[in-house]
Amino acid sequence: MGQRQGARRAAPRDALEAAAHEQRRALEAFCHRHLAGRRLWLASNRGPYELQERDGAIEATKGAGGLVTALGAFASVAPVHWVAAAMTRAEAQLTREAGGAIPARWGIPPLHVSYVSPSREQYDGYYDGIANAVLWLLQHQVAHPTTEPTFDAETWQAWRAGYVAVNRQFAAHLGALAAREAAAPVFLVQDYHLYLVPQLLRERQAQAAIAHFTHIDWPGPDAWRPLPAEIRRAILEGLLGADLVGFQGRRHVANFLACCAEFLGAPTDPGRGEVEVAGRRVRVRAFPISIDPVALRLRARSAAVSRAGEAWADAERVRTIAVIARTDPAKNLWRTLRAYDHFLARCPDWQGRVRLVALLPASRQSCGPYRTHLEELLAEGEAIRHRWRRPGWEPIELHLEHDYDRAIALLTQYDVLLVNSLSDGMNLVAKEGPTVNRRAGQLIISEGAGAAEELCHASRIVNPYDVVALAEAMEAALGAHPTERRWALAAQRQAIGAHTIWAWAHAQLAELLPRGGSRGEGRGCGRREA
Ligand code: F6P
Repeated sequence: MGQRQGARRAAPRDALEAAAHEQRRALEAFCHRHLAGRRLWLASNRGPYELQERDGAIEATKGAGGLVTALGAFASVAPVHWVAAAMTRAEAQLTREAGGAIPARWGIPPLHVSYVSPSREQYDGYYDGIANAVLWLLQHQVAHPTTEPTFDAETWQAWRAGYVAVNRQFAAHLGALAAREAAAPVFLVQDYHLYLVPQLLRERQAQAAIAHFTHIDWPGPDAWRPLPAEIRRAILEGLLGADLVGFQGRRHVANFLACCAEFLGAPTDPGRGEVEVAGRRVRVRAFPISIDPVALRLRARSAAVSRAGEAWADAERVRTIAVIARTDPAKNLWRTLRAYDHFLARCPDWQGRVRLVALLPASRQSCGPYRTHLEELLAEGEAIRHRWRRPGWEPIELHLEHDYDRAIALLTQYDVLLVNSLSDGMNLVAKEGPTVNRRAGQLIISEGAGAAEELCHASRIVNPYDVVALAEAMEAALGAHPTERRWALAAQRQAIGAHTIWAWAHAQLAELLPRGGSRGEGRGCGRREA
């Protein structure tokens, strides 16, 4: 059973918390019934904590990003052993010392974690060279058309000696760990860094139950054409080593099936969500990811978060428009700032009474397109500040920081939350905000963010390219009647409660486990019509 089952059992405060409690109980019961003491071998590039050595002592902070937030919650109730890439010197050092097994300590929740530790060159090729510079930009369709991607000798080297090599290391590490246990293993492989791992695991352990979940967008075949056929094929065949291939939304499922038909000629059945490969039927499903609202609210009530929010304590005098996003071209931050500038110009009444606060963890700065994006948005932020500031009023605050408590504090206090991604698998900030907000704040969300599918009826939806529409939405949101604001927040919370992180995990395990390892059974799939 989970290491911390029953550790937190406060009475639910509202329907959202009641739904979360119920879904968590159902997941715990499922794990108890179906895992029978077996571990879940979870793999992702980033681990749950970032371990840093400071003055001879190890400090652990929560890893960045939505994947870590969501899976950290899941791992707190399910019997997970989490395998990640060592990203800091402390993690690499500990991997060497402990032979790959890091015991839980340093005041962090008990969780089994171990690391693979590629060389610097391997890691750079895998992470920056392929995952960030090729796959992320391509899957979010933000690659520069004349230069990205370019498969020169360096990119091929990054693929072969980086991406393929590190995926092999993950598979070898997971396989060796799982081989120590008698029962057929259950592997949960995460995201675009590890597309090759399912097939590599399948070659090692034919009876394993293997799921892969892609946290980011999966576009249709046209977006994948820039990749050389060898790489497209390796990615699709790698994923099809799994029993279950999961995505955030139904459109990603359809796109993946279309890619399998187009690039592999594989028989697919879009009605059943299946692909046939080497006599096996691989299920392809949508599992929209979410959060643990109870834990998030607990943290939002902590002294650390209250302290972190003191900077914005004048909320009655100045309304707050919040933006929380990594500095990533897919997050569309430059256009978001352009829209704010347009809003200040078209709404002089709001000058002096509103501010835009952006918490922007600088992201992937060793990679060119991400550096350029950050430079552009900092320049735009400065231009806005100089254009509009006056004594006693700062129109804009840009903080390049990763501080989870400050982010939660801002989410409790926003009047308007902007999620304006060009393309985003889900975007958990859009779910975290309404969960903890205390000012009946309005949510403006782009139609490119996956979360819009669940939250559209209670939010203001914008086209992320249309800065005029976003400026108008800001004006409307700030002027919304309190009754409308309260109704919208309640409706958002209801939508979030329909699928919390527990439901996400439960749905996948329920799909995977009863039939895991049943390859080769049953009907074939009809070939998908072109
Ligand atoms: O799913 C996308 C994701 O893995 C999220 O966890 C997060 O938003 C981001 O990508 C993490 O990126 P990185 O590990 O490169 O900072």
